[in-house]
Amino acid sequence: MPMVPMRQILDEAANGGYGVGAFNVNNMEQVQAIMAAASQTKSPVIIQASRGALKYSKMIYLKKLMEAAVEDNPEIPVALHLDHGNSVETCQQAIELGFTSVMMDGSLKEDGKTPRPYHDNVDVTKAVVEMAHAKGVTVEAELGCLGGIEDGHGAGLSDKDALKHLTDPAQAEEFVKLTGVDALAVAIGTSHGAFKSSNRDSFGKVLPPTLAMDRIVSIHERMPHCHMVMHGSSSLPAELIALANAFHVVGIVDEDPEMVLFMGEIYNLRDKFGYHAFLYALMNKKRMPNMQGIPLDQIVTGIQNGVRKINVDTDSRLAITGTIGKIFAQQTGKFDPRDYLGPAREANTNLVAERMIAFGQAGHAGDYTPTTLEAMKDYYTERGR
Ligand code: G3H
Ligand code: 13P
Ligand code: ZN
Repeated sequence: MPMVPMRQILDEAANGGYGVGAFNVNNMEQVQAIMAAASQTKSPVIIQASRGALKYSKMIYLKKLMEAAVEDNPEIPVALHLDHGNSVETCQQAIELGFTSVMMDGSLKEDGKTPRPYHDNVDVTKAVVEMAHAKGVTVEAELGCLGGIEDGHGAGLSDKDALKHLTDPAQAEEFVKLTGVDALAVAIGTSHGAFKSSNRDSFGKVLPPTLAMDRIVSIHERMPHCHMVMHGSSSLPAELIALANAFHVVGIVDEDPEMVLFMGEIYNLRDKFGYHAFLYALMNKKRMPNMQGIPLDQIVTGIQNGVRKINVDTDSRLAITGTIGKIFAQQTGKFDPRDYLGPAREANTNLVAERMIAFGQAGHAGDYTPTTLEAMKDYYTERGR
């Protein structure tokens, strides 16, 4: 099966009432992990690469990996999507490389940091839509700003400040009409990365972020056919947090008040991962404090209200790095990269497969005949953009 336009995957998801995970990749193991998960669960899938990923993989390598992924899995509809494009030129480059979908993130200026005025966002998004639709390529845009920052991209807003930049439903309706985008990323209080919340209970325990689900409901009511996208949707399940805290290497200084909590938690690590993990964590006195993700049930509520694309990167990063950390800690002498990259790939596969089942895309790979960019070109011409 050739690569399909992302629009088809989202249209079919809307017809079936399910969501589709969009998983970030940077290397061969991640591409293989996602395809293995799609094949195991019979899921259509969106694979996405950020500008940072393209730079890291030197573009041509990623392109060839994707060609291999498609050839190796002829039964799986796959869309290749540019994540957080920052300019018309970047989107054009991705299209020339063979991407079947691009995101023009006009919520931020080209520096990828400063919030961009609404009318500039409309203009730059419109320019990308014209260029992409002329080739049958899908376009995702963003309105409102997410919290967090990844690889230099993001306004760096705290989750509290991000609440001031939520997507306005009336403006969203106008934006979609003016630009003709296929999918809209909405800011509802999610943020990129592993630390999505500053909410705490009375014991100081971090709680999930406050999400403005009413915005999703309202946008869906206004535009039932608009495919909404939830960025920053890693869930940071307890298992991954425990794995990262047991073996990962992100420093925390001894005088940090969190240390008290930490000492309590490492006893839980011993129960979960054994005495090795306990000793390792104790010796290193290191952990990633306050990690918090988006609970899966909230994502499912989003899907029930028109969210069709769910972006997940951080969970994969943690599964991979946590697994490698565990192998290094537990099995000294392992220096063949296959000894740790193989299990890391498997952990990534399991994580992605779980998400595919939770989002509802599992079992839908064979539902439809793949369409082509040529057919989408005709579709956009007929509808006038
Ligand atoms: O939106 C951010 C994604 O997690 C991609 O991150 O730019 O570090 O590749 P990255
Ligand atoms: P996470 O950091 O929650 O995985 O979000 C990824 C994302 O939104 C990529 O665009
Ligand atoms: Zn994102």
